[in-house]
Amino acid sequence: MTYISSARPTILLADVEGILETSRRRNRQDEITGLLVFDGKRFLQVIEGPYQAIETTFARIAQDPRHRALVKLATRSVEVREFGQWAMASHIVGPLIGDGNIVEQVDALTETLTDPNIKATLRGFARVRA
Ligand SMILES: Cc1cc2nc3c(=O)[nH]c(=O)nc-3n(C[C@H](O)[C@H](O)[C@H](O)COP(=O)(O)O)c2cc1C
Repeated sequence: MTYISSARPTILLADVEGILETSRRRNRQDEITGLLVFDGKRFLQVIEGPYQAIETTFARIAQDPRHRALVKLATRSVEVREFGQWAMASHIVGPLIGDGNIVEQVDALTETLTDPNIKATLRGFARVRA
């Protein structure tokens, strides 16, 4: 499942780090893998795993006041995980962390993806500047 959302305008780096820490811990328990990209304003997240775990987790994420205006971009069933080989459940990139070169970072993170739609969605997100 892929969705985008807008971060609450007052969001802090500490909030994003908290989201990442919770997501990694809970997703490991729930056998969910994926990628979370934050560009300073918006989130783009891909999560994959057992159907029920994805439904439950997405319902929880949607209730989270740290973001709003969630829009599901795609949901489909897959035989093989796209992010399954990654030890970390998610990644944060963007201006708040690192050198701020979101395009380079997302390109690197998506290098090994086999699904052309997910790859294009992630790379397109990194290139859009509002
Ligand atoms: C952008 C964003 C992405 C999130 N991604 C996940 C995630 O992948 N897995 C997860 O368990 N929680 C994620 N969360 C956190 C959940 O909204 C929630 O805070 C967390 O699961 C703990 O829920 P609880 O307080 O009901 O235990 C995310 C929150 C935000 C704002």
